[in-house]
Amino acid sequence: MANSRLFEPLQLGHCQLKHRMVMAPLTRFRAPNEGVPAPYVKTYYEQRASVPGTLIVSEATYISPRAGGYKNVPGIWSIEQIEAWKEITEAVHAKGSFIYLQLWALGRTAEESTLTKAGYPVMSSSDVAASPKHPVPKAMTLEDIQTFTKDYADGARNAIAAGFDGVEIHGTIQTVLRNQTTLTVWQAPMATSSTSSHMS
Ligand SMILES: Cc1cc2nc3c(=O)[nH]c(=O)nc-3n(C[C@H](O)[C@H](O)[C@H](O)COP(=O)(O)O)c2cc1C
Repeated sequence: MANSRLFEPLQLGHCQLKHRMVMAPLTRFRAPNEGVPAPYVKTYYEQRASVPGTLIVSEATYISPRAGGYKNVPGIWSIEQIEAWKEITEAVHAKGSFIYLQLWALGRTAEESTLTKAGYPVMSSSDVAASPKHPVPKAMTLEDIQTFTKDYADGARNAIAAGFDGVEIHGTIQTVLRNQTTLTVWQAPMATSSTSSHMS
């Protein structure tokens, strides 16, 4: 550990991190009411922000109702969701720490019954099922892809409105996107961008 850079500070966009241990995104299923994080979610993140200068990546959060498919996962498309997240980001900032929102579209891993109930089909980049236990998804058309692209952009904009310091795009095995990407959201002005790894 003597030569480790783990406890050295790191400037990440506008976030002045005091060490390099980042809390990984952890799905908790704590949004039972229309994708609005339950009140105790604030306590959960506030506790994990206790060491000033810590970066947290939130649990995966749906960009839109059509991107869902598990129950009780939070979202970032409604006013109520944005307001609830705002309280959480303010609590984290009050501890001197930072928080990114992880944006999620479940794709072929969605539960068909949950998504059908919400009025949407299971869609993904191809009509190949994730496993024999999963539904065969509808292959996205160009129009579907454009709709989801807009949902991601709206989700990122709503993350800014909710006070997040950045977004991470969840892109792991079997979801709509592959490859996890972390982006810093500049809060003011919103359109500032210095490198291609930063969102404008
Ligand atoms: C209960 C649980 C929930 C998780 N939820 C998410 C999630 O929402 N988003 C995500 O990208 N990864 C999620 N993961 C993966 C973790 O963030 C982490 O990458 C994984 O546990 C591997 O960590 P390790 O490399 O330190 O072992 C979850 C893992 C667990 C155990």
